[in-house]
Amino acid sequence: MEKVEKTIEQIYEEAFKEIKFATDSESIKALSIRYLGRKGIITNFLRNISNLPPEKRPEVGKRVNEVKKSLDKAFKHALKRLETKPSQKDYRIDVSLPGRTIQQGSLHPITQITWQICEILEKIGFDIAEGPEVETDHYNFEALNIPKNHPARDMQDTFYISDNIVLRTHTSSIQVRIMEKLTPPVRVIAPGKVYRCDSDLTHTPMFHQVEGLMVDEGISFGDLKGILTTFIHHMFDEKTTLRFRPSFFPFTEPSAEVDILCVMCRGKGCRVCSHTGWLEVIGAGMVHPAVFENVGYDTTRYTGLAFGMGVERIAMLKYGIDDIRKFFENDSRFLRQF
Ligand code: PHE
Repeated sequence: MEKVEKTIEQIYEEAFKEIKFATDSESIKALSIRYLGRKGIITNFLRNISNLPPEKRPEVGKRVNEVKKSLDKAFKHALKRLETKPSQKDYRIDVSLPGRTIQQGSLHPITQITWQICEILEKIGFDIAEGPEVETDHYNFEALNIPKNHPARDMQDTFYISDNIVLRTHTSSIQVRIMEKLTPPVRVIAPGKVYRCDSDLTHTPMFHQVEGLMVDEGISFGDLKGILTTFIHHMFDEKTTLRFRPSFFPFTEPSAEVDILCVMCRGKGCRVCSHTGWLEVIGAGMVHPAVFENVGYDTTRYTGLAFGMGVERIAMLKYGIDDIRKFFENDSRFLRQF
């Protein structure tokens, strides 16, 4: 008796295992016949129940019928699963379909122009340095001869993090950090993001600058003029006309604004150059002795030149773009063109 009951459970278990490992509908059909067919294992089992003591027959008979039902269900389930699952031979490659192309990314136009600017200046002999975007009042203003309450601070709409911490308003802050670390000769450029609270067709609250600094004995305004002329000729083209216009920055003396003849109208006057014929592209000058004193450089021995340019401005002129905000809207239809 014990033996018979155990065996039906064993049969049940084995049948389930076989169903699980079957890989096609044909073997499920064969299994179904083997277990539930007219001469199948379960059917045989039922037939042999008559050999059991009469009081045990109903109980065992009931169990065998349960197993039968359950296996029948399992076979049907397995058949359905295997018949809907495509077999390997159904997969075919349709060689006439067009290929799927991979969308390739590219460098952002501002990154491209930044790299171009740096490449030209590296050839002239500058090394690249970087500095923090969250800057202290000291590096962004104070050490650059822009004391607190100086009217020059109005030139820049500053994002203050706290009384003494700002988002740098220009890459000139890196000038001071470099000079604190190095003794002349210094020949460094510093690209990076800068921040000003300003937003319109030609201003975004975040934009990019490249700073230049050169300090040594005997550096003159002539060096400044030569370097920037060479730079502009490589950045735009060799026929580009430059003009050095007197200007003011607290950290340079004398200071100059470098204009180029309008690349759109060639000086005739148009919307891009506000009908002046000229475009302002670089702020520059000779490092102010007060800045040297702040970093402990000997002002009787060294002179230096410094310049700073806006990357977006140069990119807009090079590509003929009239709205700076397009660079940061991340519309791939715009960005894909560069
Ligand atoms: N920092 C100035 C600006 O942001 C540019 C500048 C750099 C001018 C170096 C002179 C020397 O406008």
